[in-house]
Amino acid sequence: MVSLLQKMRMAHLPDVPQQLRNLPHLALHTIPKQLSLSEPIKKRFPCTCSLNAQAIEGGESKQSRKLKVGVLFSGGQAAGGHNVLSGLFDGLRQLHSGCQLIGFMNGPAGLIDGNMQELTASMIDSIRNLGGFDLIGSGRTKIETPEQFHAAARCATDHRLDAIVVIGGDDSNTNAALLAEYFLQNKVPTSVIGVPKTIDGDLRSADIEISFGFDSAAKTYSELIGNIARDAISAKKYYHFIKLMGRSASHIALECALATHPNLALIGEEKQSLSQIVADIADLITNRKKEGKEYGIILLPEGLVEFVPEFKELIAACNHLLSSGKEPQKIKELLHEPHRLFFSSLPEKIQQQLVLERDPHGNVQVSQIETELLILDLVKRELNQRNIKFHALNHFFGYEGRACYPSNFDANYCYSLGLFAALAARDSATGVILAIKNLHRPVHEWVPKAVPIVQLMGFEMRSGKEKPVIAKALVDLQGQAYRHFALQRKRWRLEDDYQMPGPIQFLGPSELIDSVPISLSL
Ligand code: FBP
Repeated sequence: MVSLLQKMRMAHLPDVPQQLRNLPHLALHTIPKQLSLSEPIKKRFPCTCSLNAQAIEGGESKQSRKLKVGVLFSGGQAAGGHNVLSGLFDGLRQLHSGCQLIGFMNGPAGLIDGNMQELTASMIDSIRNLGGFDLIGSGRTKIETPEQFHAAARCATDHRLDAIVVIGGDDSNTNAALLAEYFLQNKVPTSVIGVPKTIDGDLRSADIEISFGFDSAAKTYSELIGNIARDAISAKKYYHFIKLMGRSASHIALECALATHPNLALIGEEKQSLSQIVADIADLITNRKKEGKEYGIILLPEGLVEFVPEFKELIAACNHLLSSGKEPQKIKELLHEPHRLFFSSLPEKIQQQLVLERDPHGNVQVSQIETELLILDLVKRELNQRNIKFHALNHFFGYEGRACYPSNFDANYCYSLGLFAALAARDSATGVILAIKNLHRPVHEWVPKAVPIVQLMGFEMRSGKEKPVIAKALVDLQGQAYRHFALQRKRWRLEDDYQMPGPIQFLGPSELIDSVPISLSL
């Protein structure tokens, strides 16, 4: 039994750009090179560094043939992923009725272990316009060792795959770039195509305007924040400290702030010190109390700690010790001053969370660090000194926004990315990530472009070593979205201008159901 909404969404037909209609008559064409790459990147990617971006053109197209394409999800869930699968499946069928789509189970590990399943029409019909990645699962395995590359190549060759589509974020598309390079160097005739997924919104470039899943996650969190704001102005007795998922970058927090107008939204990229943050929140509460307001809404991005200078240095020191094999429980005594002093000053729980195992890509697991509790605790201490009483509740909105029904924006965007991936597979595009531009415009005006992944890459320290990675795109403090927020936020501190956007809508006027992320429309 499925719910009525699920039934309705499964029957929904996503809208697609003009440029992706009539797939068999389209072809990719090369855009002359514009970007020059750094020498270390050229050295690490000798084959893929010479790739060009590609756009779609009508007219002369390649003869479509029976293609066999593998697909995998990598990393955290993001709403719309299933629509990439349905778009890819439908696109392949449009190109040739004998095409096959193979799903690798549980992420990159499925490719390495050869754990796969052919996706049938009935399987695809059961996930259209639904959230989650459950049809094939996901995982965070980093393809790193020679054995893993060899196993992936063997799988691609044994199963005669024409292409592998990697649906993932920055680290997963780094995997895709490394795999494409390895395949070219080793004459494996399988192309590797990346698709930009992540609720974090930090996989962006001049061509990738936003990753999929960001819109649905931000809209879900904004609904919850709006509901809590309504509760706050009704009860008038609590401050709500709300941590929002999104890893290092504060894109989600910024988008939710633009949608809900909280009293305060911290943006990690502003790089405030811990004492500045605490003083700012304490001042806010003090000043609101003078106006008779003993409630409020405070948003904190989960990656905040990575920008607070004291924490940033401490995390780097912990990373260094952990990557050299030191046990988490020994870290405290091994830290040098002043890091040890700062570490010891933190609540026991936060100390333990700071030394939790890093993810396979070397990232600190910021969603496991209870920043909201830490800040709340410090603010309490500060207000105690000022002799001010206040009541606060803490929340973390993260997982509840990753697998929701995709908004129409994400449903259309993902289905279009899937169609584009089918075309890219037919035209043997490799080492590219698929972008769709003009996303703030009506869907029929969207413009697909395949971009070489190496163009997004640089080197970073990960797990104690310099590694080629796609740099996470942070909130641009000169950008329109941030400037728009900065202009208004002073007013939101004392005046309550809370917006209650409510749940994602699927029925109603277009401006309600087809809205794009606010930061994109700005
Ligand atoms: P991706 O970069 O893989 O898209 O991850 C998104 C994310 O939801 C982050 O916002 C969050 O910090 C992390 O995943 C949580 O990881 P996990 O699912 O392993 O708990």
